[in-house]
Amino acid sequence: MGLHIGSIAPDFNQESTAGPISFHQWLGNSWGILFSHPKDFTPVCTTELGRASKLKEEFGKRGVKLIAVSVDDVASHHKWAGDIEATQGTALNFPILGDADRKVAKLYDMIHPEANDTLTVRSVFIIDPNKKIRTIITYPASTGRNFSEILRVVDSLQLTDSHKVATPADWQDGDDVVIVPALQDPKELAERFPKGFNAVRPYLRLTPQPNK
Ligand code: BEZ
Repeated sequence: MGLHIGSIAPDFNQESTAGPISFHQWLGNSWGILFSHPKDFTPVCTTELGRASKLKEEFGKRGVKLIAVSVDDVASHHKWAGDIEATQGTALNFPILGDADRKVAKLYDMIHPEANDTLTVRSVFIIDPNKKIRTIITYPASTGRNFSEILRVVDSLQLTDSHKVATPADWQDGDDVVIVPALQDPKELAERFPKGFNAVRPYLRLTPQPNK
């Protein structure tokens, strides 16, 4: 059976640019984002690792650790890091797993043979502090990811974990949110959403973001 939202993220031991990593231990009590790229020394991947490094502090504010993976070895990653720093205006500041034996790629189904027999696609796994996979996103090799969008998903997950809300299309932190349809008790509605809500439809109730 494949990995789904709600599955426990498989644990592994693998080499990385930061030394050997035991994944669950490395995650500790943090959120984590494990993301694959097809190959070192390729253009789109170089921009992605630079962009993710620039956003590391933003992810850190949300308690999220980043870790990348490709089927290149650690020596290749170290060499490539020099190019990332020279061309992207930022040093690589999180580990990349050296997955030459494809242990992690296979465990997380990151190789899609109809796309490429040997290289990983651009997979993203957002993992919560209970080691549960909370989001899976997959992009083809030709499309660089929008890391601001990945940050937005983290914001949505963390908000919806602590309040009985969901986030609507194109939501950005601070926008109105949706009250989950299951919440119907008038007393609880008043307690949870003291600023009130706008029932556009009985099932579509918008309220100011509760933690703002
Ligand atoms: C890239 O990062 O530019 C790339 C890598 C593999 C296939 C296509 C593009």
